[in-house]
Amino acid sequence: MTLTVEQPLAIDIQDRVAVVTIDNPPVNALGLALRQALLETVARLDADARVDSVVLLCAGRTFIAGADVNEFGKPPAPPHLPDVVAAIEAARKPWVAAIHGSALGGGFEIALGCAFRVALASASVGLPEVTLGLVPGAGGTVRLPRLVPPAVAVEIVTGGKPVKAPKALELGLIDAVIEGDLRDGALAFAAGKRPVPAPLSARAPLPAEPGFWEAAEKSVARAARGAAAPGRALVCLKRAVEGDFADAMAFERETFLELRASPEAAALRHVFFAERAAARPASLKNVAPREIRRAAVVGGGTMGAGIAAALRDAGIPVTLVERDGEALDRGLANLRGIFDGAVRRGRLSEAAAAERTAGVAGATDYAALAEVDLVIEAVFEEISVKRAVFSALAAACRPDAILATNTSYLDPRAIAEGIAGPERFIGLHFFSPANVMKLLEIVPTPATSAETLATGFALAARLRKVPVRAGICDGFIGNRILKRYRAAAEDLLRRGATIEGIDAAMRGFGFAMGPFEAQDLGGLDIAFLQREGARARGEDVPATLGDILVRAGRKGQKTGGGWYDYAPGDRKPRPSETVAGLLAGEIGGGELPADIAGHLVGEMAAEGGAILAEGIAGQAADIDLVEIHGYGFPRHRGGPMFQTGGKG
Ligand code: NAI
Repeated sequence: MTLTVEQPLAIDIQDRVAVVTIDNPPVNALGLALRQALLETVARLDADARVDSVVLLCAGRTFIAGADVNEFGKPPAPPHLPDVVAAIEAARKPWVAAIHGSALGGGFEIALGCAFRVALASASVGLPEVTLGLVPGAGGTVRLPRLVPPAVAVEIVTGGKPVKAPKALELGLIDAVIEGDLRDGALAFAAGKRPVPAPLSARAPLPAEPGFWEAAEKSVARAARGAAAPGRALVCLKRAVEGDFADAMAFERETFLELRASPEAAALRHVFFAERAAARPASLKNVAPREIRRAAVVGGGTMGAGIAAALRDAGIPVTLVERDGEALDRGLANLRGIFDGAVRRGRLSEAAAAERTAGVAGATDYAALAEVDLVIEAVFEEISVKRAVFSALAAACRPDAILATNTSYLDPRAIAEGIAGPERFIGLHFFSPANVMKLLEIVPTPATSAETLATGFALAARLRKVPVRAGICDGFIGNRILKRYRAAAEDLLRRGATIEGIDAAMRGFGFAMGPFEAQDLGGLDIAFLQREGARARGEDVPATLGDILVRAGRKGQKTGGGWYDYAPGDRKPRPSETVAGLLAGEIGGGELPADIAGHLVGEMAAEGGAILAEGIAGQAADIDLVEIHGYGFPRHRGGPMFQTGGKG
């Protein structure tokens, strides 16, 4: 029999097991109505003599995926989640959480309140609160170390990464992986006569080895790069292991409420919503993207190989095109190198790498592209080379095949000039390494059709990238801001700041690297050649300090020195006497800002403001996404526009 308590859940009693099915689309988030309904359901089933045990199941695509994003940043309203979890834990009948999709944050905390947790192999569980600048707020940091050893709890809570069910079983986070139908499996599990364990709140925490917390503190701080939440989560876990349950619960809640109001949490919420909005542009709501069954990449260098790897990671068969057999062999070797590297680092199994490689075909003849749905060009950054490639592509490919360029600086309109079917042409600007970096700048020309644009966004989703629409200008959004940032950093050098001082300030702000170390890693020559090209075309490009270094043969780490010196085989930057000598004549002096990082972020935001005013970016939040996902801007700072109040 079925009896509806109240929307968002239904109860169905079968063979003395009550199946509570949450149905709160789209992701069964723990909004107020659901919290209330769960609380009432516990009491109701406790009192129901027909019920011995309870299965908690979710309808739709996932178990409870977490808090309700509509309640983000608002004061919490009762019943509070910790009370709901406590009620489930105190229920007189054992509850079994039956997990599919994701049990994240509050969803996993509910599952921790249940006597048992079972999950489909495809499901994942986790406590990602730190990625929103928070700590778990409903006992996650207190119950977890009573279920698994402190090292596991620290990894789950401070890392914030979801764990797949088989691994979760191994770690002791769940009790069983269900094969086949989840409901049937969970019902059988619930009906099985197994001893009901003591609730986690009544168990003793698993002890930590001596020295554990000191070591954890160091490694968590290193990984957090200035974000506060992971360290605060660690403090909660330590308190939970060392103190009593009620005290640790109160401490966790207090920390949670404090962090909710922090600038870090506000920044991370901003990024969260910006990412959601970017993935689904309102203007493309009613436009169906074209299906991509097979793609080609032209050019197998740094970018082409990376793009091909990204396509293969998403399961899309790829044809890699190079100019001759020798270049093709190199390109295919580049691609294999990416997969081999992933295997070496334990990120990919040998079998998966073989499968990735098997899905790649090589070609030197455009005739091989007659049936592809999408081509991405990544040949030399030379307008004549690119134009020749696109006229050949337009002739060889199906008239409806989408043709994309990965150009960094050239004008996509000029690249596409004269091709047949300009409505299928678009800029898809990837970032290096293209199979890793999340940003994809999507650059339509005035002729690009809505369908082609929608296909660009759909491709980004399939490649798990963050798409940002950019208008046409020199450098689009990201490289244009990068140019301003570097110029501003050089300006500080001219005013007497030091290279290492500026780099340290940006690292202190949360970047992995400062502007000068980053150039040494990537090479100073690419931007130099681009400036020289513009100068040759008669454009007015101011002389830079970087020009002086490149002309002196200092192109970065690969030449043993750039802004810094490097000992052979060592990536550690060392301040360089040579550079000091080369630049001595350029250093004037002048006033330096007290807050170097704040000044440089302000410069980025000022360029962002111009980009916005010109309509190159649609909204300030898009600029933040570009900086975070393409240029290493610390996520917990929300991006340059967020930092400066969006005004630039
Ligand atoms: P690369 O020099 O590593 O690779 C270019 C490849 O294109 C070479 O393998 C070359 O043999 C091949 N190629 C040249 N002409 C060809 C033709 N007619 N047909 C087929 N293949 C041809 O260059 P990289 O760095 O991969 O850059 C490629 C494009 O991506 C450029 O437009 C660049 O501006 C852009 N880009 C580069 C980024 C980077 O960080 N390197 C980032 C984003 C975009």
